Amino acid sequence: MAKSNLKLKQEKKNSLKVVDKNAVKTTLYSDINLNKWKEYDHVKTDTLWEFPTRLKEGGHSNEYHGNYIPQIAQQIYERYTKKDDIVLDLFFGSGTSGIEAVNMNRRCIGVELKDELAESVSEKFTPKQLVTDVNIICADSASEVAKEKVQARLDIMGRKQAQLLMLHPPYDDIIKFSDKKEDLSNCATTEEFYDLFEKVAKNGYDLLEKGRFACLIIGDKYANSQHIPLGFECMARMNKLGFITKAIIIKDMQGNERAKGKTANLWRYRALAGGFYIFKHEYVMVFQKV
Ligand SMILES: C[S@@+](CC[C@H](N)C(=O)[O-])C[C@H]1O[C@@H](n2cnc3c(N)ncnc32)[C@H](O)[C@@H]1O
Repeated sequence: MAKSNLKLKQEKKNSLKVVDKNAVKTTLYSDINLNKWKEYDHVKTDTLWEFPTRLKEGGHSNEYHGNYIPQIAQQIYERYTKKDDIVLDLFFGSGTSGIEAVNMNRRCIGVELKDELAESVSEKFTPKQLVTDVNIICADSASEVAKEKVQARLDIMGRKQAQLLMLHPPYDDIIKFSDKKEDLSNCATTEEFYDLFEKVAKNGYDLLEKGRFACLIIGDKYANSQHIPLGFECMARMNKLGFITKAIIIKDMQGNERAKGKTANLWRYRALAGGFYIFKHEYVMVFQKV
């Protein structure tokens, strides 16, 4: 007897349900195989990040006061880059973004204002890596010159634009990185800091591929007995440039060894006496260029 139309339809539907277990399904910006999403337990998807200790293996050291912990790069790179992609870091510092790019088979262009630092960081990479994987530029990231230099390196590396933007600026004047007038930690006022930050972020925006992501790592500060929300103001400047905000992650500062400090009790007294709370977090903000 001929099968009814309904039965035939049901059979066709069932046959389509046979999933190729080896098929790889990814987004346009990550290698995470969504068909195996349950195997990515190590990848964070919530907005509270706690890293009890700083990762010291894999070429990382903690010699630079003001560096970020490598676990941030690991999380962000896995979520927002593919193998061989280029990460652009416009506040390169001691090169955490570059080291982790090499560890994770990504590439990196880093811009740092301090020439002696840019030079010493180069020593963390092999001569071959410095040709193929990590390009370090000494320049003011807010300048047109820096933008042109990054563009030239991108061309050499075979890409028109970068695939991820990392921004870890000075938190205004909390740590003074140099005496240079272009240094964001050396601004006369916080308003000037925001304006300089915006200029750097604008260069980053122009150098980033459409659809790709930017990550801003920043903390707030206290001044004149009040809380100054550096993070939110910088976020507003990013939004003004056209970035949409995808996430505001609170990162516990336990992993920053220096945040513990011997003066913890003194700060506790000051907090109780002054009516404020001691910072125990910073932000990891994620944006997309749409
Ligand atoms: C918070 S640190 C970044 C640390 C880095 N993420 C790391 O893990 O080592 C900020 C860096 O930005 C640099 N900097 C400040 N103003 C700059 C500018 N206008 N252009 C480029 N770099 C700048 C400082 O010298 C400092 O090394």
